[in-house]
Amino acid sequence: MEQTEAFYQVLQRRRSVRAFRPEPVAEAQLQRIFSQAQAAPSNCNTQPWLCAVASGEPLETLRKGIPEAFAAGQWSMDFPYDGQYEGVYKERQHKAAADLYSAMGISRDDKAGRNAQFMRNFEFFGAPHVAFIFLPEPFGLREAADCGMYAQTLMLALAAEGLASCPQTALSFNADLVREVLGIEADNKLLFGISFGREDTEASVNQCRTERAEAGECVRFYA
Ligand SMILES: Cc1cc2nc3c(=O)[nH]c(=O)nc-3n(C[C@H](O)[C@H](O)[C@H](O)COP(=O)(O)O)c2cc1C
Repeated sequence: MEQTEAFYQVLQRRRSVRAFRPEPVAEAQLQRIFSQAQAAPSNCNTQPWLCAVASGEPLETLRKGIPEAFAAGQWSMDFPYDGQYEGVYKERQHKAAADLYSAMGISRDDKAGRNAQFMRNFEFFGAPHVAFIFLPEPFGLREAADCGMYAQTLMLALAAEGLASCPQTALSFNADLVREVLGIEADNKLLFGISFGREDTEASVNQCRTERAEAGECVRFYA
């Protein structure tokens, strides 16, 4: 029972953090976390994720280069993204955004404030590390689901170690630049990135807590 409680605490502790402290995570701790994350399940145990962890100089090159590329209108996405949701999904999207901006004191009509917060994505919210998750060709939807399971396993391992993370589709908007800076082959397709490190607990953006639908809205039991 103690173990169960401890696990549920880790589950609740994981949330998206959008302001980090700059101190890097110790090498031994990084190795332990990424070894544990390999426990993620996958179709036929194929483990089809390529997880590229960027820190130090290559990360600083990207922290400068990605916002510059975005400002210059350069996009290179491996997977389509239009960010358009309908119905209940749109309602949930809007509620999460409203909660985030209200935690930061950014009003609904403050477009500049919202844009500045969005641009912080490309600076990894100040995190000292980013795990870029690539899907090797010719894998598709099923293996992308494996990558999702890997990502959640990784984020739970980070949370268990007292560290914070934020999964970010925004980090896949300039896949060519990420591949170029990290020296990754063109047939590895970028799904998303996960910024991680220590939470800046003082930052207002980190006071936001997202809500969840009741399980009954998403789960159907048949007996
Ligand atoms: C695959 C994926 C991509 C995401 N992309 C972004 C992103 O680009 N920027 C961002 O600020 N949050 C991003 N998020 C975080 C979600 O907004 C967040 O998970 C959701 O609102 C639930 O909040 P929580 O993670 O704090 O529980 C992403 C989450 C996932 C799973």
